[in-house]
Amino acid sequence: MRVAALVIALMTMTSVVSAQVTKQSFGKTPDGKNVDIYTLKDGAIEAHIITYGGIIQALKVPDKNGKSADIVLGFDTLDEYVKGNKGYFGALIGRYGNRIAGGKFTLDGKTYSIPVNDGPDPNHPVNALHGGPKGFDKVVWDAKEIPHGVELTYVSPDGDQGFPGKLTAVVRYTLVGKDLKIDYSATTDKDTVLNLTNHSYFNLAGAGSGDILKNDVKINASHYTPVDANLIPTGEIASVAGTPFDFRKPTAVGARINDDNDQLKKGHGYDHNWVLDSTGKLAEAAEVYEPSSGRVLQVITDQPGVQFYTGNFLDGSITGKGGKVYGHRSGLCLETQHFPDSPNHPKFPSTELKPGQKYHWVTVFRFSAR
Ligand code: GLA
Repeated sequence: MRVAALVIALMTMTSVVSAQVTKQSFGKTPDGKNVDIYTLKDGAIEAHIITYGGIIQALKVPDKNGKSADIVLGFDTLDEYVKGNKGYFGALIGRYGNRIAGGKFTLDGKTYSIPVNDGPDPNHPVNALHGGPKGFDKVVWDAKEIPHGVELTYVSPDGDQGFPGKLTAVVRYTLVGKDLKIDYSATTDKDTVLNLTNHSYFNLAGAGSGDILKNDVKINASHYTPVDANLIPTGEIASVAGTPFDFRKPTAVGARINDDNDQLKKGHGYDHNWVLDSTGKLAEAAEVYEPSSGRVLQVITDQPGVQFYTGNFLDGSITGKGGKVYGHRSGLCLETQHFPDSPNHPKFPSTELKPGQKYHWVTVFRFSAR
């Protein structure tokens, strides 16, 4: 009796205490760097992380009947990530998540230029998006196993993509119970700006199973930052009240996405930054509920903003895992971060990082079903 009780207690403890972490090769980059894939498994939840771009390659989560599905968009092979990850599927984004107008900003009286790679006309880019043409999504991170997960480190040299300072970024992915936690930290040796995030596209019914328009989304934000025609914030902090941007009560993504609204037209749907009411405290930023599977994703963070992007640029030209085609709005992103173009908006929360300061914040993706 006692032995049995002890065995049960130990089994319960191990399932609570640790996710199983395993590592396999995921191939080599064209320049010969080894890339590994780490699998984090706790109970019925599994997260697959590759060291190229720190990408969440797969995320397996049970539905309300216990049936598992992979709920993030992505590819089966490294080659496809290297050649075709135009949408930044699952990747760590750095040094600067989202846009910097004209690729230019001034810091300590000096102007810095980041190569531009984004704009309404792809042939004439006008913004630096997601850290420039070779951001943190396109580099191989050093990796080591840690309790419940994997720690990724990337040392970005002074002047990388035009950004000042040698920056050491450390990102830890851990899986405990139903929580996939991303812990970001960084230090610099010169004054710089920094805005890291993760760019996962969720489809809670299963990647490649259709669009996300019937997902109910809640965003705990009373304000958002309207944009100009180049998707750069105008600087205004606008109230969501009475607009299609009010997600304070759970609302289907598709309910208002085609409304006659200037901001929705500029974003080709939702592609905006919401100003979280939590103001920097660790709290729920957003929740997504998918009615057919019953899966629920809660996004918890201590960042001031979240970019809610409804996969407006997906057009069926990308074939992902298992040969599935990713059509228009077949995934949604909730990129927890500072506001776009903050280095050019002194009134936005600062993205400056100085030597001796430690950049540190977390996001938790919490899964359940109902
Ligand atoms: C972010 C941007 C979008 C788009 C995607 C990547 O979410 O805000 O406009 O660039 O990344 O396709």
